[in-house]
Amino acid sequence: MDKLESEMIDEMAANAREYPVDGNVVIEASDLRKSFGPLVVLDGTDIKIAEGETRVVIGRSGCGKSVFLKHVIGLLKPDAGKVIVFGEDVPSLKTNEIYKLRERFGMVFQSSALFDSLSVGYNVGFFLYEYSDLPRSEIDDRVREALRKVGMESVEKKRPAELSGGMKKRVGFARAILHEPDIILYDEPTTGLDPITADVINELICYFDEELDVTSIVVTHDMVSAYKVGDTISMMYAGKVIQTGTPDEIKGTDNAFVRQFIEGLSEGPIDVIGGTG
Ligand SMILES: Nc1ncnc2c1ncn2[C@@H]1O[C@H](COP(=O)(O)OP(=O)(O)OP(=O)(O)O)[C@@H](O)[C@H]1O
Ligand SMILES: [Mg+2]
Repeated sequence: MDKLESEMIDEMAANAREYPVDGNVVIEASDLRKSFGPLVVLDGTDIKIAEGETRVVIGRSGCGKSVFLKHVIGLLKPDAGKVIVFGEDVPSLKTNEIYKLRERFGMVFQSSALFDSLSVGYNVGFFLYEYSDLPRSEIDDRVREALRKVGMESVEKKRPAELSGGMKKRVGFARAILHEPDIILYDEPTTGLDPITADVINELICYFDEELDVTSIVVTHDMVSAYKVGDTISMMYAGKVIQTGTPDEIKGTDNAFVRQFIEGLSEGPIDVIGGTG
């Protein structure tokens, strides 16, 4: 990347930082930096997310979306910068404090991450069955209720291998909401699904947003999903957030980098061959 381009990106990031937050900020990253050896992934990522908001994070494959989510939940430690969640400085928390904070999160993984040897019901209730003191019958009830919320009440006794990709995703959703989280992180919830199944998943994200009163981050490169579920959308490029806006603001953007991405064009300022950003 030449000097001119990096100056342009810094300027876009500075503008994105000014985007007003509507409400109480519950997730904040500032000047977040993370490299793996020589590979710079996060290079001054700034983001502020308000309570109850559904923020979509878009960006090319390999630009650091999953790495960003892992910082929010304390699975990765930054090289520099801050991650504040509910007022707590995540990187400085002790292991037991991290676990306590994670109880407030529901995580929908990029792969559904279900244990194939366990029943669907046990997968959904896994952490409560294994680690809580709740009576088994109560966990069973909660599992059934969570599966009902995602429209999957009939599959409790099945194995994950018997389910389609879309069904596995929904089971992953049931697991994420079982403990009534305050924040749900979705990593590519619709990737690899047909458009109709993807829409079922989008509807579920909207339903959780309304019914569960949660704050959500949805990482995706599916623009149909981004426009449907997002209150706001942030685009990551070259390790930074280069624009934040409502779906309408993003659709109408004159930022050439964002336009190229949302329209899926090989021509444009984004370095298609060399760049990971
Ligand atoms: N633990 C790790 N060790 C080394 N490199 C890593 C690690 N985690 C991620 N990376 C690298 O960091 C870059 C960003 O990865 P990340 O998984 O965040 O991308 P992404 O934006 O989620 O992409 P995708 O849309 O394909 O899921 C990639 O080049 C990846 O190989
Ligand atoms: Mg990813």
